[in-house]
Amino acid sequence: MKKIVMLLALVAFIAVSAVAFANPAAPAGDLTVSEMMKSNKKPPVTFSHAKHATAVPDCKTCHHTWDGKAAPVKCSECHTGRKSGKKDNIKNTSHKKCKGCHKAMKKAGKKTGPTSCKACHKK
Ligand code: HEC
Ligand code: HEC
Ligand code: HEC
Ligand code: HEC
Repeated sequence: MKKIVMLLALVAFIAVSAVAFANPAAPAGDLTVSEMMKSNKKPPVTFSHAKHATAVPDCKTCHHTWDGKAAPVKCSECHTGRKSGKKDNIKNTSHKKCKGCHKAMKKAGKKTGPTSCKACHKK
């Protein structure tokens, strides 16, 4: 009996660690997105990654090329800041993704993030 309990505990532990290691930890605090840009004409944009990971449960809504295993690659690695082929620059990319979602949710009457320039590009 004792052995079975130990075995069950071990199986449970392995299952929990497998889940824990399968997903890279999402950043807990705020992120300054302007680190993605080399030249900053506008004040930096900071957003709470934690709030977004809760409000937007599917990581791939934003990390759209992520394989779901290793840490996701930074947007700026691909969206290089210049219009290159199919990949849009980081400004248009961010506006489409960030502002796009906020606008759509606002229209649907849901609680969401800012849509005005100053509310995102805070001094
Ligand atoms: C939902 C948030 C959000 C809103 C609203 C928003 N932006 Fe941005 N913007 C970003 C992000 C994120 C970036 C890319 C990271 C960065 O450069 O800080 C960016 C980048 C930029 C850039 C290029 C970066 C630079 O400093 O040169 C400019 C210019 C810009 N935005 C202007 C505007 C203007 C003008 C408006 C209003 C019409 C606006 N943004 C509204 C989030 C936003
Ligand atoms: C609303 C959009 C959004 C959602 C949803 C989201 N992320 Fe992110 N995440 C970002 C942005 C933007 C960055 C900053 C990336 C950059 O600087 O290019 C980031 C950064 C990260 C980083 C740090 C990457 C680095 O190299 O610094 C990790 C890890 C991460 N996210 C994991 C996750 C996981 C796991 C989830 C799902 C639970 C998730 N994210 C959901 C937008 C999002
Ligand atoms: C591994 C490379 C890669 C990474 C990392 C990446 N993207 Fe992309 N992204 C692409 C490519 C390639 C396209 C164009 C083809 C497509 O739609 O899949 C694209 C398209 C997009 C589009 C549509 C652009 C348009 O003009 O309609 C948005 C928005 C976008 N990405 C946002 C993001 C954000 C935000 C991040 C970071 C959280 C990110 N991407 C990370 C490669 C990448
Ligand atoms: C798929 C939808 C979605 C996308 C994509 C998204 N947001 Fe949001 N955003 C939300 C929602 C929902 C909230 C409200 C969350 C809350 O208050 O709990 C929010 C809140 C915010 C806020 C106010 C709270 C905070 O985080 O400080 C900021 C700023 C913000 N978003 C910036 C951004 C930026 C910058 C990006 C792109 C990198 C982005 N958002 C992408 C849905 C989205």
